[in-house]
Amino acid sequence: MENKKWRVAIIGCGTFANWQYLPNTRKEANAEIVAAVDIVPERAIKACEEYNIPNHYTSVYELIEKCDFDIAIDSASIQAHHEINMAVLSAGKHLISQKPAAPTVEMLTEQIELAKKMNVKFVCVPIHPMRYDINTAKQIIASGAVGKPFYAKCTLAHGGPEYFQYRDSDPSWFFDEGAGALVDMGVHGLQIVTSIFGPAKRVSCMAKVLMPTRRVRSGAYDGKMIKTDTLYDQYIISLDFGEGVMALVDTGFCEKASKTPQLEIFCEDGTVSFTRPYMTNPMPEVYIDSVEKGIRGWIDPMPGVNPPKALISQCCCLGDIVDAIENDKTPVLSAEHARHVLEIMTRIPEAVKSGTTLDLTTTF
Ligand SMILES: NC(=O)c1ccc[n+]([C@@H]2O[C@H](COP(=O)([O-])OP(=O)(O)OC[C@H]3O[C@@H](n4cnc5c(N)ncnc54)[C@H](O)[C@@H]3O)[C@@H](O)[C@H]2O)c1
Repeated sequence: MENKKWRVAIIGCGTFANWQYLPNTRKEANAEIVAAVDIVPERAIKACEEYNIPNHYTSVYELIEKCDFDIAIDSASIQAHHEINMAVLSAGKHLISQKPAAPTVEMLTEQIELAKKMNVKFVCVPIHPMRYDINTAKQIIASGAVGKPFYAKCTLAHGGPEYFQYRDSDPSWFFDEGAGALVDMGVHGLQIVTSIFGPAKRVSCMAKVLMPTRRVRSGAYDGKMIKTDTLYDQYIISLDFGEGVMALVDTGFCEKASKTPQLEIFCEDGTVSFTRPYMTNPMPEVYIDSVEKGIRGWIDPMPGVNPPKALISQCCCLGDIVDAIENDKTPVLSAEHARHVLEIMTRIPEAVKSGTTLDLTTTF
């Protein structure tokens, strides 16, 4: 299997696929793209022309019927993920799903069970657990250099998909039921803090609609006004991990610019801070307060003896699934972790409405 060239189908040839998956598939694994799929035929055809892909289809069903492929990457709009994922897994193909893979915990469990039954690997992004800086920080924490970690503060927000990204497609769907800031952006912050502390035990949250109308600021729909008052666009999420550990996740579509570090982990004897773009594979910044070592200040951490792998692109999820297939192991970007994050996200509306702290039951 080691020399096998993996045949990849990209489902959903929109902004993210054009940015990450189409240009990087061949760089991230011994792989070729054999099909591009989109309900808008011109997008799939354009992908075929630009990336020398032999086949294009307008649905996942046509793909399954007509094409021989091994791995599908579902990068379609959020609301389409569950149907696409169930179809891919039912066909016995390996799957990488963009986030969130399903609208409910039950539906994601259905996907996980189906993947097991069909004996295929199932990877769910975002890719934060593969990050160089996060894995370096985990090594630093495990070494004891900063003492017990007890609080993480994560700010993961931007000004909205209509604001920060150039897109050929209409961004209105991001504000419709089933999508929204929590599942599009909150998912990143929640995956990050649970990558560091493990499964959370309780969640509470305050949320509001801060921008009920928005103007598209770039791309093909520049200038279009969108009504955006259905779903909250700003969330302040607090998580209890038990045993004196907690986290704050500040997320949404309302921060056009910010100088806040994306993540800081506060520990008994120091702080680990993430101020640099993670795709540049930076070292985290580390502050140590140690009476024994006579240190009190920011230090320059050295790369460890086993430095984590540097990332090339957000298509690294392909390397993860190929590694899981070839070595029959659980991928780093596990669907069970995604299910825990999904449970938090699906409990949040109730936590906001009731103003209470709710228990969580899933783990990974
Ligand atoms: N950094 C990140 O992790 C990141 C950033 C942006 C977007 N995303 C995710 O990527 C996914 C796509 O977002 P985008 O920004 O590319 O949106 P987009 O609207 O630009 O692209 C989505 C594409 O999916 C197609 N599509 C919709 N339903 C389909 C179906 N049933 N079958 C096939 N194609 C279908 C649309 O026609 C469109 O071309 C979303 O899950 C989004 O959350 C992730």
